[in-house]
Amino acid sequence: MTRFSDGVVPFLFLCALVWSCSETVHCRNQTLPQSEVEALKKIWAKLGKHWDFTVNPCNRISGPVDPRDYYYIGDLLPNVTCATCQANTCHVTSISLSGQNLTGSLPDELSNLTFLQAIDLSFNYLNGIIPAAWASTPLIYLDLGANRITGRIPNELGRITTLQNLHLESNLIEGPLPQSLGNLTSLWLLNLASNNFTGTLPESLGNLKNITYFTIGGNPITGKIPSFIGNWTQLDTLEMQGTSLEGPFPPIFSTLQNITYLVVSDLKGGDGKFPPLQNMTHLYKLVLRNMSITDELPAYIGNMTIFRYLDLSFNALTGQIPDSLKGILSGLIYLFLNNNKLTGAIPDWMLKSGIHIDISYNSFNAPNAPCYCSTGIVNMVSSYSSIDDNSMKPCLRRNNPCSGVPKNSNLFINCGGHKITIDKNEYQEDMDNQGASYYNSYGDKWALSSTGYFTYNESQPYVAKNVSPISGASNATTELYTTARLSPISLTYYGLCLLNGNYTVRLHFVEIIFTNDKTYSAVGRRFFDVSIQGEWVLRDFNIAKEANGTGRVTIQNFSAMVNSNTLEIHLQWAGKGTRNIPSYGVHGPLI
Ligand SMILES: *[C@@H]1O[C@H](CO)[C@@H](O)[C@H](O)[C@H]1NC(C)=O
Ligand SMILES: *[C@@H]1O[C@H](CO)[C@@H](O)[C@H](O)[C@H]1NC(C)=O
Ligand SMILES: *[C@@H]1O[C@H](CO)[C@@H](O)[C@H](O)[C@H]1NC(C)=O
Ligand SMILES: *[C@@H]1O[C@H](CO)[C@@H](O)[C@H](O)[C@H]1NC(C)=O
Ligand SMILES: *[C@@H]1O[C@H](CO)[C@@H](O)[C@H](O)[C@H]1NC(C)=O
Ligand SMILES: *[C@@H]1O[C@H](CO)[C@@H](O)[C@H](O)[C@H]1NC(C)=O
Ligand SMILES: *[C@@H]1O[C@H](CO)[C@@H](O)[C@H](O)[C@H]1NC(C)=O
Ligand SMILES: *[C@@H]1O[C@H](CO)[C@@H](O)[C@H](O)[C@H]1NC(C)=O
Ligand SMILES: *[C@@H]1O[C@H](CO)[C@@H](O)[C@H](O)[C@H]1NC(C)=O
Ligand SMILES: *[C@@H]1O[C@H](CO)[C@@H](O)[C@H](O)[C@H]1NC(C)=O
Ligand SMILES: *[C@@H]1O[C@H](CO)[C@@H](O)[C@H](O)[C@H]1NC(C)=O
Ligand SMILES: *[C@@H]1O[C@H](CO)[C@@H](O)[C@H](O)[C@H]1NC(C)=O
Repeated sequence: MTRFSDGVVPFLFLCALVWSCSETVHCRNQTLPQSEVEALKKIWAKLGKHWDFTVNPCNRISGPVDPRDYYYIGDLLPNVTCATCQANTCHVTSISLSGQNLTGSLPDELSNLTFLQAIDLSFNYLNGIIPAAWASTPLIYLDLGANRITGRIPNELGRITTLQNLHLESNLIEGPLPQSLGNLTSLWLLNLASNNFTGTLPESLGNLKNITYFTIGGNPITGKIPSFIGNWTQLDTLEMQGTSLEGPFPPIFSTLQNITYLVVSDLKGGDGKFPPLQNMTHLYKLVLRNMSITDELPAYIGNMTIFRYLDLSFNALTGQIPDSLKGILSGLIYLFLNNNKLTGAIPDWMLKSGIHIDISYNSFNAPNAPCYCSTGIVNMVSSYSSIDDNSMKPCLRRNNPCSGVPKNSNLFINCGGHKITIDKNEYQEDMDNQGASYYNSYGDKWALSSTGYFTYNESQPYVAKNVSPISGASNATTELYTTARLSPISLTYYGLCLLNGNYTVRLHFVEIIFTNDKTYSAVGRRFFDVSIQGEWVLRDFNIAKEANGTGRVTIQNFSAMVNSNTLEIHLQWAGKGTRNIPSYGVHGPLI
């Protein structure tokens, strides 16, 4: 099943397929050659699937098929499709076994199916390496996403020059990408996200002139953003979150006018400039998060009328919010400008727009600040630089959102759960579910700020209940661990109105979303960073790894100095780990 981590869900045009069976009935009595039946038996054994071979293995003998069926491959297509029949003999042309709890390994014997054009083994628990023997198949579509596949991409894969669509997302494939991938000139989709690829992007990829969709996010791939992407004139979707790539974008990048999804984050290096996007007038989703842009917000952004998602958070953008932005507000769903250095005023038209807006953590400084810090879908906490304007709501100011008299010396929160008392400590209830651009404070005790939405899964709650049983907790504390708060991007807890002094911060984590069974839910990997009082204390933190498995408790202890009555604990996603397990958009902090 094709589930994309980001970008549009594209169509696969299998125009090259020759469906010589024009009529299903005509084909039904035809048979597979014995060699293919033998191969299927071995394939099924290796995949760990039971099959009754007394019945015809082809559960669909294809008539004319709408090539766009492959858009829903796995949902609509049965698992073995046979076609290209001649005389009494048909051949296996497609195998689709997405989400079937397969626990075996990738079978060499697929290469014995010499007419095979599509394989979908995604969302299983398959291991092993990609067999070099597959190079001899006439594959057009290969989807191995969300498994446990290891090893390198074999050089031989570059011989499958018919390949148009290659999905390897969410596996453990490592090493450098082979130069031979540049020989796959028919490719229009290359999804390599969330693996362990290292080295630089090979120059040969510049030959992929037909590529429209490229994702490499969540890999420690290095080097500068290559100028050969200027050759990718058909590019529609480019995703590079959480890599070790370095900016800036090469100048030629500005000529890629067909881009609609440009999703980049955590880019190192760069020149601080806003990339030249003025001719990308079809942008629908633009994410340039945490990449040290120190420029002003360009006015031309307001001319791109089909914008839906705009995330420029965690940069150092300066200047005012341009008036032209008004032009795109009606189409936008999410606008994240938080954690920048924007100055001037928060425009009134922005507050009235009714869309999810996060402008928290900026340096606005115009008089007449808003008289609230959030509206439920507009988050403005800490958005003003002033620290001493007493007419301003304290939560708008940087540093000290306490509006009362500092008097607290401790704070307990049951993240994502009900109020509960353990050992005479009362844990606060934390069940709010409006997380995309959210701030709320609970009396003078604590506050919460959360940014980000779950891509393709926008109704996914921001609080979770465990799917795995919890181990390593006493009966008394188990209830603490059965719920958690999630945030796809950024989550901040504030202890408010605290007496100044030294505090112990104890953060409790259990991975309660991924499972420890033998399904694809067990192959998810979560990474996030944690800072306390502005200092990073955990980088690339992986709960399950730290706790030795899912459903197990790990407690991280820190000490923190409170000197202006506020304690701030910030958890942030830096683009790493998987993003489509167990469903789209699942990534980022969990506590
Ligand atoms: C298929 O074979 C069965 C018996 O094997 C026969 O009854 C039927 O008529 C055949 N169908 C066609 C369309 O030839
Ligand atoms: C695959 O084919 C077998 C045999 O026809 C059938 O029992 C099974 O339900 C099919 N699975 C899917 C996902 O279509
Ligand atoms: C896969 O396993 C899970 C968990 O055991 C189960 O809920 C699901 O129904 C299984 N799916 C299939 C297609 O067998
Ligand atoms: C599959 O292909 C291999 C190598 O090409 C060959 O040795 C083997 O005999 C084939 N198996 C079948 C069942 O045809
Ligand atoms: C790409 O294909 C050409 C021609 O078939 C071949 O000579 C070359 O070695 C291939 N490149 C790689 C890196 O495999
Ligand atoms: C690239 O795409 C065009 C238009 O869809 C097609 O005609 C051409 O054959 C493709 N090139 C390759 C190498 O597949
Ligand atoms: C990725 O590869 C590195 C070595 O290159 C290894 O140390 C690390 O454990 C791998 N990561 C995963 C998640 O397998
Ligand atoms: C880009 O395309 C040009 C001309 O089509 C070609 O000469 C060049 O080698 C390509 N660049 C790379 C890095 O492949
Ligand atoms: C954008 O895509 C269209 C249609 O695929 C193509 O004709 C056009 O050349 C592309 N634009 C650029 C700048 O390459
Ligand atoms: C955008 O397109 C115009 C007209 O084609 C061109 O003059 C300008 O240089 C382009 N801008 C960039 C940044 O590429
Ligand atoms: C926006 O578009 C209008 C009309 O097409 C044009 O006059 C204006 O210069 C553009 N503004 C920017 C900043 O590109
Ligand atoms: C936890 O509760 C269960 C039954 O509710 C009981 O059997 C078990 O002994 C308790 N464990 C501890 C450590 O108290």
